[in-house]
Amino acid sequence: MVVKEFTSLAALNDALQAALTPGPGIGRVVVGEGAVPSPIALVGEQPGDEEDRQGRPFVGPAGRVLDRALADAGIERRLAYVTNAVKRFNFVERGKRRLHRKPNASEVTQERWWLERELAFVQPEVVVALGATAGLALAGRRVTVTRERGPLTFGRRRGVLTVHPSYLLRMPDEAGRKEAYDAFVADLVCAREMAQQAGRTAVR
Ligand code: URA
Repeated sequence: MVVKEFTSLAALNDALQAALTPGPGIGRVVVGEGAVPSPIALVGEQPGDEEDRQGRPFVGPAGRVLDRALADAGIERRLAYVTNAVKRFNFVERGKRRLHRKPNASEVTQERWWLERELAFVQPEVVVALGATAGLALAGRRVTVTRERGPLTFGRRRGVLTVHPSYLLRMPDEAGRKEAYDAFVADLVCAREMAQQAGRTAVR
C-alpha cells in the first residue's frame, strides 16, 4: 500500500516536473490527465513526439486510435484517467526527426515510484495496461501480452492487460487491423464491465 506523501496530485506533478528534467534525447514531463478519482486508469508506455509537443498524453496518432476505441467500448475519456508508465518522450534524433526509443526495463522500474503515487490519488477500480511496458510498470515484473492478455492482477490492483494502440497502427493489412481493433475494443469493454460490476462507471 502506497502512502500518499503528497497532499494532492497537483503537488505530486510539481515534484515530478522538478525531478525529471528534459535533456538530450529526453523530452519534457507529460503528466496524466482525466478524472480524479476515476474508476478506470489507462496506462501507456511513454509520451510520443506529438504528446511531447502538446504536453498532454495520448493526443497523437496512437491517441486517436485510443479515443475511437474508448468511444466504441462505451467509455468516456474525460471520465477515465490516462497516463504513462514513463513520463518523458525518449527519442533518437535522425536529422529533423525524433524517433521513439523504447524505455528499457530499468528506466520503467525507476519511474514506478511516481506511477504508484499517482494511482493512489486516482483510486481506479480497474487499471488498463496498454502494452508490455505498462504491464511491467504496473505488475513490477515482465508481462507478455500474447500469453497474459485480458483480466490480470497487478500487485493489489485489478486490471486488464491489452495491446498498445500503436500496435494497431503498425499492422500492414486492413483485415488484420480490423480484427486487432475489435479485440482491443473487447478488452476495453471488459475493463468497463469490471468497473461497473464494482459499482463505478465511466460510461456515456
Ligand atoms: N504512446 C503512449 O504510450 N503514450 C502516449 O501518451 C502516446 C503514445
